[in-house]
Order: sequence, then structure tokens, then C-alpha cells
Amino acid sequence: MTSQTRVLRSDDPGLQALEREGWVVVARSWGARRDTATCDRQHLEALAGRANATGTVRALTTHDVGAVLALDADTAADYPGREATAHAPLTADRAAVGPSRRAHGVVEADGRLVAMTFVDVEPPRAEVDFTVVAQDRRGLGLATAVKAASVLALVDDGVAVVRTGGSADNPAILAANRALGFVVDEEWLTLEGPETAGR
Ligand SMILES: CC(C)(COP(=O)(O)OP(=O)(O)OC[C@H]1O[C@@H](n2cnc3c(N)ncnc32)[C@H](O)[C@@H]1OP(=O)(O)O)[C@@H](O)C(=O)NCCC(=O)NCCS
Repeated sequence: MTSQTRVLRSDDPGLQALEREGWVVVARSWGARRDTATCDRQHLEALAGRANATGTVRALTTHDVGAVLALDADTAADYPGREATAHAPLTADRAAVGPSRRAHGVVEADGRLVAMTFVDVEPPRAEVDFTVVAQDRRGLGLATAVKAASVLALVDDGVAVVRTGGSADNPAILAANRALGFVVDEEWLTLEGPETAGR
């Protein structure tokens, strides 16, 4: 037996019909927006500064690709949620940075990369791809710090709107985004269909 999945906005008019057919909600996710015009620079700098107790928060460059791939491999199984918030393991291409793909990280004194956030940029908009922290460095404010540094750089680049998203089962990234001034403006549902005989 197999079953299909679909991802719909929570206000999708087709939702009730699917539920009558036996589709059930198996995961919830959200999208959030930050208008940079209202950013308080000093507040963001203070949040970015929380990384100083651990290491240096800085923009990642092409020289960091090896460390990015290593941290990604170590944390690939840690993303909560289902299809809507799945994280595909990075390829060398997606680990590389450039004008349309920016990244910030926290690097410890010995060179270890322990946190990173990647953003796809198409001015005047930018969309966070993912944010991740090494398992043994969570709860130290590092996700908030790298995202704060990233938003500050986007402000400097003239980006007007930054979007991000994630699983409803991820309270830490929700709290980080709230601290950074992101406002949740979309809710998404992942539905699983009734089981059908597979081929
Ligand atoms: C989500 C993740 C990036 C958070 O990183 P982190 O460095 O531990 O986050 P921070 O320390 O900046 O914490 C952010 C906020 O969440 C809160 N928090 C941390 N862990 C939490 C938990 N398990 N439950 C509830 N709140 C939590 C913190 O208290 C903090 O709030 P505060 O500033 O009000 O105190 C990290 O857990 C991770 O890498 N997870 C796997 C990848 C992932 O899910 N990425 C996000 C989707 S792209």
C-alpha cells in the first residue's frame, strides 16, 4: 500500500474536500516575513554579538565549502517536519556562495564551523534556505546570531523583504525568528492521502 502527500496553505479552499476524501494532516509548517525598513540595527548587532562567546560570526566564502559540507553532513537528519520543510543534503554547488546565495557562519578559534545560515538573494527580496547549528553548540544563541548577521548584511545590500519558514515542530527556530522580528504570515499543512494499492 502507498499513500500520497500534498502541501497546501491552511486557507486553501480545496482543503475541506480533501479531508472528506480521507486526507489527514500529518505536519504543519509556516512562512514568515521581515521588512528590513523597520530593522533596529543596534538590536540585531547585539543578537549577532551573542556568538562572540563561542567564536567569530562572519560571512562565509568559497574557502569555507569543505567545512559547510561537513557541518551539513553531521546535521542532515536533524530537521523536523515532513516534505514541506525537508532539507536536501547540500551539494558542492549549493554549498558555494556568490552574489545570489549568501551565507554567514560562526567559526571557533580552531577554525571549526559550528553554525551557518544560507540565503537566496534576488533584490529586493531574499529567502532563507536553511539555518543549522552543530549538535554540541545548540542553545547558545548561535542560530539567532548568524541570522542576525545575515539580516544586517541583507539590509546593507538593499534587500527590502526577507522571508523564512520552517516546521511547527521546531520551537527553537520559531523563537529565534521572533527575536529577529520575523512575523509569521503563512501556515501550511502537509496532508497524507488515503492508502491505495501500490504498483
Ligand atoms: C533550530 C536550531 C538552528 C536552533 O539553533 P540554536 O543555536 O540552538 O538556537 P538559539 O540558541 O539561537 O535559540 C533560539 C531560541 O530558541 C529557544 N530554544 C532553543 N532550543 C529550544 C527548544 N528545544 N525548545 C524551545 N525553545 C528552544 C532558545 O531559548 C532561544 O530563545 P531565546 O533567545 O528567547 O532564549 C538548531 O536546533 C538546529 O540546528 N536544528 C536542526 C536544523 C533545523 O531544524 N534548522 C531550522 C530549520 S531551517
